Amino acid sequence: MTRYLIAPALPSQPYPFNPPLKLGILASGSGSNMEAIARAIADGELNASIQALIYNNPEAGVAERAKRLDIPAVLLNHRVFESRETLDKHIIQTLQKYQVEWVIMAGWMRRVTQVLINAFPNRILNIHPSLLPSFPGMRAVEQALAAGVKLSGCTVHFVELAVDSGPIVIQAAVPVLPDDTPKTLQARIQVQEHRIFPAAIALAAAEAYSET
Ligand code: GRF
Repeated sequence: MTRYLIAPALPSQPYPFNPPLKLGILASGSGSNMEAIARAIADGELNASIQALIYNNPEAGVAERAKRLDIPAVLLNHRVFESRETLDKHIIQTLQKYQVEWVIMAGWMRRVTQVLINAFPNRILNIHPSLLPSFPGMRAVEQALAAGVKLSGCTVHFVELAVDSGPIVIQAAVPVLPDDTPKTLQARIQVQEHRIFPAAIALAAAEAYSET
């Protein structure tokens, strides 16, 4: 599979952040990206700590992973909040309580509001399973298959208000094979997500701190 990979070389040495980056993860799903980030930290590839996980879906597999990885997990079920802004205010309070500096949307299936963006300016990253700006929004993998593209991939980008928009940090491309299903293409994309997300966090932070 790697022979098809089209992606920038990733840094071989971790950036020497001192103190380590304090990450807060927002996730709604299985949490494989959170685990990839945790593994990169444990392996010394990313100098960071995951301060907390916030998840919005009580059934999400990410909660189990957080338990196993010893990451504090907070459920903020979007259904109990009256508006997106109210949810975001609770997210901010939780992130501040855990002293989070960088917000990592690792499969967060909620639209964010300006309230959250203003609280963490240029400090929110998202991963999306397409080569943005193609196929933003839900069901990106299905959309790519329906469009008949021959290459797809994943994108890590800074978060702006419009869904899946904002400056791109890293992308990786994978082939779309003739017999692909959403499941097989998603799996091929996820291998690359797990590879580029920790690197993108390091790159974004290195650039942000070099500017200050
Ligand atoms: C990823 O494919 C990501 O691109 C999308 O949601 C999925 C989350 O997967 N935004 P996981 O929960 O990290 O396994």
